Amino acid sequence: MRAVVARGYGGPEVLQIIDVAIPEPGEGQVRIRVAAATVNPVDLATRSGALAEAGLMAPREMTGIGWDVAGEIDRLGPGVDGFTVGQQVIGLRDLLDVSFGAYADYLVLDATAVAAAPPGHSAVEAATLPLNGLTAAQSLDRLGLSEGDTLLVTGGTGAVGGFAVELAAQQGIRVIAQGSDADFLRSIGAQWTLSRDADLVAEVRRLVPGGVYAAFDTSGAGIRALAAVRDRGSFVTVVGGADPTPLRGIAVHHHWIHADGQALARLAGQGLTARVADTLPLHAAAEAHARLAAGRLSGRLVLTP
Ligand SMILES: NC(=O)c1ccc[n+]([C@@H]2O[C@H](COP(=O)([O-])OP(=O)(O)OC[C@H]3O[C@@H](n4cnc5c(N)ncnc54)[C@H](OP(=O)(O)O)[C@@H]3O)[C@@H](O)[C@H]2O)c1
Repeated sequence: MRAVVARGYGGPEVLQIIDVAIPEPGEGQVRIRVAAATVNPVDLATRSGALAEAGLMAPREMTGIGWDVAGEIDRLGPGVDGFTVGQQVIGLRDLLDVSFGAYADYLVLDATAVAAAPPGHSAVEAATLPLNGLTAAQSLDRLGLSEGDTLLVTGGTGAVGGFAVELAAQQGIRVIAQGSDADFLRSIGAQWTLSRDADLVAEVRRLVPGGVYAAFDTSGAGIRALAAVRDRGSFVTVVGGADPTPLRGIAVHHHWIHADGQALARLAGQGLTARVADTLPLHAAAEAHARLAAGRLSGRLVLTP
């Protein structure tokens, strides 16, 4: 099979397609014939060596790239219940230290990292859900909000932020979303929107005197977003190096995604909005990385082996 790997670390040019044996699923694992693999910021940070430099993974000569997958199960390992060969699924690879990732013709995952594909979505759309949808859902869980509470989401037009706004609105949470596309933010349920360069503390406290119950920071606003949260509220960031000091009794968490097939199955049933900027063939992975790094994409780039 073909697999895209990073040979050493550096710019998109370190990505290469190599030929390797099709992997066999072990105990409790499934093999997926990959139909779609999403290109995410973590893939760029893995390829560039930023994650190795930050101590999040051991340096490797060859690193597999790609976390998000949609495709068809083509083989079951021993002891797998609840999945069948031929079933359309989505899944998440959450290990950094691997030789092969989702940018490949086949991917073996633990069955506990896999869920049935969302109804009504193409494989390309479905592949945009696992990493960013689960990050949003797990982060919202950590904020401990109830219906009617107020939440600030920074980077609301981004992949994680967009899912967070939509999930929170579905739970009856009143969302102030910061991002460059106010129409989109309102369409997914934001009650109020703020521009990207807004003065967060002044604007949020004007809309919600006393401050919001919680903030979910996906843009790296850090202390500027924390200042918009009321005393003893809660704050979650997913951006490396953007953890503010927990002032005024605010509970501050840095959340790291982990695969969770059961939560993914619930997400797949929630009718979330999938945004795809473009699809590219596997051999255009380097071009996809360059385009994501250049920014200004509306939705995700998805590789279709
Ligand atoms: N910890 C984890 O487990 C985990 C998991 C997934 C992602 N992440 C991280 O979470 C972050 C968001 O990921 P993503 O995939 O959602 O990225 P994304 O799609 O690129 O979205 C990021 C958003 O942040 C906004 N933004 C960027 N710089 C900004 C600035 N200086 N001021 C205001 N807004 C700014 C952009 O807003 P506009 O659209 O308005 O320009 C963009 O929509 C990344 O750092 C990613 O690495 C962490």
